[in-house]
Amino acid sequence: MNKELAKERIIQLSKEIDHHNNLYYVLAKPEISDRDFDKLLEELIDLETQFPELKFSDSPSQRVGGAITKEFQTIVHKYPMLSLGNTYSEQDLNDFDQRVKKLIGNDFEYVCELKFDGVAIGLTYKEGRLVSAVTRGDGIQGDDVTNNVKTIPSIPLKLQPGDYPDEFEIRGEIFMPRPVFDKINESLYNQLKEDGYNEIEIADKLLKNPRNTAAGTIKMQDPKIVAKRSLDCFLYFIYSENQPFKTHYESLRKAKSWGFKVSEYVVKVKSITGVFDFIKEWDHHRHELDYDTDGVVIKVNDYRQQEELGFTAKSPRWAIAYKFKAASVATQLISIDYQVGRTGAITPVANLIPVQLSGTTVKRASLHNADQIEKLDIRINDFVFVEKGGEIIPKITGVDLTRRENSSVPVTYINNCPECGTLLFRNDNEANHYCPNEEGCPPQIKGKIEHFISRKAMNIDSLGEETVDLLFDKKLIENVADLYKLHFNDLIGLEKVVEAEEPGKSKKSVLREKSVNNILAGIEASKSVSFERVLYAIGIRFVGETVAKKLAVHFRSMDAIAIATYDELINVPEIGEKIAGSIISFFNRSSNKKLILELKNKGLMMEIDEKLTPQKISSVLAGTSFVVSGTFTKFTREELKDLIIAHGGKVQSSISSKTGYLIAGDESGPAKMDKAIALKVKIISEDEFVKLIPAS
Ligand code: IVH
Repeated sequence: MNKELAKERIIQLSKEIDHHNNLYYVLAKPEISDRDFDKLLEELIDLETQFPELKFSDSPSQRVGGAITKEFQTIVHKYPMLSLGNTYSEQDLNDFDQRVKKLIGNDFEYVCELKFDGVAIGLTYKEGRLVSAVTRGDGIQGDDVTNNVKTIPSIPLKLQPGDYPDEFEIRGEIFMPRPVFDKINESLYNQLKEDGYNEIEIADKLLKNPRNTAAGTIKMQDPKIVAKRSLDCFLYFIYSENQPFKTHYESLRKAKSWGFKVSEYVVKVKSITGVFDFIKEWDHHRHELDYDTDGVVIKVNDYRQQEELGFTAKSPRWAIAYKFKAASVATQLISIDYQVGRTGAITPVANLIPVQLSGTTVKRASLHNADQIEKLDIRINDFVFVEKGGEIIPKITGVDLTRRENSSVPVTYINNCPECGTLLFRNDNEANHYCPNEEGCPPQIKGKIEHFISRKAMNIDSLGEETVDLLFDKKLIENVADLYKLHFNDLIGLEKVVEAEEPGKSKKSVLREKSVNNILAGIEASKSVSFERVLYAIGIRFVGETVAKKLAVHFRSMDAIAIATYDELINVPEIGEKIAGSIISFFNRSSNKKLILELKNKGLMMEIDEKLTPQKISSVLAGTSFVVSGTFTKFTREELKDLIIAHGGKVQSSISSKTGYLIAGDESGPAKMDKAIALKVKIISEDEFVKLIPAS
């Protein structure tokens, strides 16, 4: 296809895609299948790849995510991004109504809208094209997150034809739909479970709510990741020099016709009674929506009247936000349990008299740590308020002091491990207490074994949590090396108690020949699991999957890691002081050294199998060390480091006289550049680096 034809086709495809995008994401009335939509997009992307000069900044292909943003630019808001006066009380709303009436009389209307619980955004359009998207920041200036916002499918990059002003700003709220949030959390849950965390630890680690997640996502550096997070956006207010409408209600209808997503639940009412009806209805029905709302926003409809009312120092006098009260209930604290996790971390858990809250029964809640108990001054038999706001896990928000028993005493936090009696310790900078008895504390031992056999570690899936419990209780295993000493006769006929489907009931099952053979085969097969996974499996604190991989690639063997000095460890990219300290103390323990030796003798992989390392492509960089600094256009930093290693080179985190090259990208650290110059280290670009390695 020649350039002229390609241009025509690109324009036509963009129009069609924009149209279907609006039908699908804004109006929820799709006319073509997802497959046909993807085909159009693919064709567009293909053409744009062939003719990069025809890739326009408002092309719908931008939705998949453009270049990485290193640092967000600060932009001053043309119209300050004020927030609204907030209230939880009907009395405040009546007062607001009285103030409005006093200033503009009785002839006016209110517009009632839902208050979306997300991240405020200001979108500027010039001649119908999105030119910038800025966060609230401090209200005066915010961050330019345009590249990320372009990936949100319901935000138009180009408007539908209409009478929009040449330049205007539209404000709205970016949010993450609850089903999207739940799905992300569900996979996070499964991953944490596999990694051996217990329910309470998992509860502490899960994403807290869709609002925080949306806020974190919109500030991510890579728009491609943002594009995968299915963010959405409701728009609710327009600013421009010459408004083509007289009322707010009309502006929203127009905005919708230009292609913006505007809530369908917007009503005009004549009086504050109508406002109360709207609030009552949505306080009741808001949980049926698939996004979070935290209240109702009430605005005077007419622009002239808005002008008359004006602003206070902080917010407009013509609008107010009414916030829904978070669902909350009081119940009694029966006792506190202390759970011990795989790493020895202690989590206090409140046992409550079961109580109904927003459709679920709450009987336990995490108390997080000793500080939290002290802060709440929570005592046994206290009536506590349990609240479920945007968060999944119910929170204890306070104590009803009026119902406190006179005889109550503050909780004394435990000094000794509830499982093994060892004296607990707490580092100055950490919130949790820990049980240091790594080798003798049952939940820690079992947790470590469960982690060892988990899918991403040794993947012995024929052994489950219950079998590990059973083998541990029968004293057949005391550490992971004992798994490799098990024989058929140890296992056959063992009885285990398994949870039955009916809650509270359990049944017995006996290990028969088939399961025993499966278990033994699984254990045998784990001997060929790669070194990096063995390193992850042995459960060094702070050495997760990614860190294990980095260490394995850098040091190549367990022996090399075991003797690595602190300095050598922190010289590995992304290995910090905390991880280095943890590795050193792991290998300082004689019991760990013994364990590693036993595992080695049993035939586990203790070094990188050079034959199996697929990345090893050439040796042209052997003997040469590189430092990588800054951001690049063709590769990510990680990809460059992988390439260096794949071609036999070494990656260093800081420049020394032994460094061969500094590969410098945009915004490469000035200190690194100065040092490279001082030490006469060659400074090269990513393109020059590519020339050093064979073309692939
Ligand atoms: S109107 C001057 N409408 O809640 C116009 N705000 O405390 C101000 N919000 O700052 C905004 N839903 O971030 C408006 N339907 C809605 C809203 C809404 C959520 C946010 C917005 C605002 C804050 C008010």
